[in-house]
Amino acid sequence: MPREPKITATADSGDLRRALGTFATGVTVVTCCDAQGRACGITANSLSSVSLDPPLVLWNISRISNSLEAFLNAKVFAINVLAEHQQELSNHFARSDHRLFDTVEFTPGPAGVPLLPETLGCFECSTHEIYDGGDHYIIVGRIEQSRWREGKPLLFYGGRYAALAGSL
Ligand SMILES: Cc1cc2nc3c(=O)[nH]c(=O)nc-3n(C[C@H](O)[C@H](O)[C@H](O)COP(=O)(O)O)c2cc1C
Repeated sequence: MPREPKITATADSGDLRRALGTFATGVTVVTCCDAQGRACGITANSLSSVSLDPPLVLWNISRISNSLEAFLNAKVFAINVLAEHQQELSNHFARSDHRLFDTVEFTPGPAGVPLLPETLGCFECSTHEIYDGGDHYIIVGRIEQSRWREGKPLLFYGGRYAALAGSL
């Protein structure tokens, strides 16, 4: 049984973060190429499915991300859904560094976007819409191609990585 809820005003960002952290998510690395054709990637857990017909998904990128310009200008991007054993990859792409792909293996997808190996799922998207989302931008992608395989996902909950215990 959950304990009594802690009720606070949303002004306290620590409590707001903890409240938002009660929503367990998977973990993805979103990739694209910048204007110079260099591979870019950022760890993101803000993925949400939006629509099946047309097939749309969204994710959010911080306005202060070094990769912001690349994603705002990208016509195509890929959402790589990480498997349980890919925590190191998540930490890698959560770092602020322009050369993250120098040490990571990838294959270019049909549209040239970097695809990461051993992921559970992958959505290759064309950029459909970009909306203002406060201190983030909301990027909506139209899924052009998707792939998936069986396996255990990497999870994020309460500000930490977590693993799937099994079905209820
Ligand atoms: C599990 C996890 C989920 C994250 N989700 C997001 C996200 O959805 N959007 C975002 O902008 N940053 C997210 N971040 C933070 C970025 O990965 C990180 O700030 C970024 O990679 C730093 O590099 P940059 O300044 O070059 O963007 C997440 C980090 C972690 C560890």
